[in-house]
Amino acid sequence: MGVLDKFRLDGRTALVTGGSRGLGRAMAQALAEAGADLVLVGRDEATLDAAARELAMLGRWVGLIVADVGEPDMAAAVCDQAIALGRPIDVLVNNVGGRRVDHATETFPLDEWKRLFDLNLTSALVCSQRIGRAMLERGRGSVINVTSIAGPLAIKGIRGRHYETAKAALAGLTRSLAADWAPRGVRVNAIAPGGFLTEPNKKWYAEKPELRATFEGHVPMGRLGEPAELGPAAVFLASDASSYVTGATLVVDGGYTVW
Ligand SMILES: NC(=O)c1ccc[n+]([C@@H]2O[C@H](COP(=O)([O-])OP(=O)(O)OC[C@H]3O[C@@H](n4cnc5c(N)ncnc54)[C@H](OP(=O)(O)O)[C@@H]3O)[C@@H](O)[C@H]2O)c1
Repeated sequence: MGVLDKFRLDGRTALVTGGSRGLGRAMAQALAEAGADLVLVGRDEATLDAAARELAMLGRWVGLIVADVGEPDMAAAVCDQAIALGRPIDVLVNNVGGRRVDHATETFPLDEWKRLFDLNLTSALVCSQRIGRAMLERGRGSVINVTSIAGPLAIKGIRGRHYETAKAALAGLTRSLAADWAPRGVRVNAIAPGGFLTEPNKKWYAEKPELRATFEGHVPMGRLGEPAELGPAAVFLASDASSYVTGATLVVDGGYTVW
């Protein structure tokens, strides 16, 4: 088998939470281009349908589940539904997450903190439990948790530190699951994106160009990333190209974290 063949995902199925837009959509596209069939999860049916139509043009099977994985019970139900589709899930991308609010920590309402932990951390735990159990039974699988450069460090000039805290915890969960599941054939890794030009970020930076300049000033490569630049990292970690990689975090940030 040549080296590029090791990146192929033909005959495999990948479940991507938040696969209808943004970074999840870009990773889903890359996985499909590498040959994977997809199960995409999102809250808005119309956006999911649009993504499915575009991705199906690559010749892959695309299943859709409309749900809010920020609700732990719903996240569990999503996984049960995905398993019931009858295709073994070979790749799980726990992508849903986000900062969403910018409260100061000293006055952060606890109920909101917990809700956002469910979004950023519990969703990945629940999906890893449910889909991971099936992977462990088959003795193979790859779980990819989407963390952030805000895991190992605090982003300057912004509040909402539940995000830094939850992403750091997700990195810890990644290492722990990797250690526990490695002997049973399931690899668990993380991708830590830096700043990317998703549609909401484009809008946000258009309104606040000074923030974009400040952020880009911290990036050695001098620019934000394009979502498509995250796709190859997902294909690497999903595929046999990374057969000896587990517990790792692949940082894709234009060098933000080197300074
Ligand atoms: N964008 C960045 O620059 C950046 C940087 C570092 C890390 N990250 C991380 O990368 C991941 C993706 O970020 P993004 O910016 O692409 O996110 P996003 O724009 O907020 O969401 C993208 C996808 O997630 C779905 N989604 C959001 N909340 C959901 C929920 N509760 N249940 C089910 N689906 C949900 C969205 O569809 P619906 O709205 O229809 O549900 C959409 O498909 C996140 O974990 C984020 O923390 C992003």
